[in-house]
Amino acid sequence: MERTLSIIKPDAVAKGVIGKILDRFESNGLKIAATRKMQLSRADAEAFYAVHSERPFFGDLVDFMISGPVVVSVLEGENALIKNRQLMGATNPKEAEAGTIRADFAENIDANAVHGSDSAENAAVEIAFFFSEREIS
Ligand code: CMP
Repeated sequence: MERTLSIIKPDAVAKGVIGKILDRFESNGLKIAATRKMQLSRADAEAFYAVHSERPFFGDLVDFMISGPVVVSVLEGENALIKNRQLMGATNPKEAEAGTIRADFAENIDANAVHGSDSAENAAVEIAFFFSEREIS
């Protein structure tokens, strides 16, 4: 059993597709072990994406992630990390396979509907960033 962190980003929340995206997870064998809708502060977004702080897109990424509420969730299941990444599709929606969340709901590489942890190590850090163990079940 594995856990990974998912974020439904401000573009997808604004479009009103929270339920549709959470359904993709549940319909594909991923349990929603924790979830919360919240508004990230600038400090939250900068800390969460600290690994990207030197990248040219960092400023735009932070601005976008605080432009409206997000939904953060812990997804749990067998191979949860890979499964979530398959369901999301490529980071750039133009390259995302048909039927993936990003192909169906994302606009561009910045407003790309969802985030998912990219390694088991990062998943543990990202989950702990948003949730305490007693909130996850
Ligand atoms: P995410 O999985 O949330 O991780 C970092 C985000 O930066 C990524 O999704 C994209 O939305 C955004 N981003 C913008 N430009 C790029 C880029 N050139 N490469 C990777 N990520 C980018």
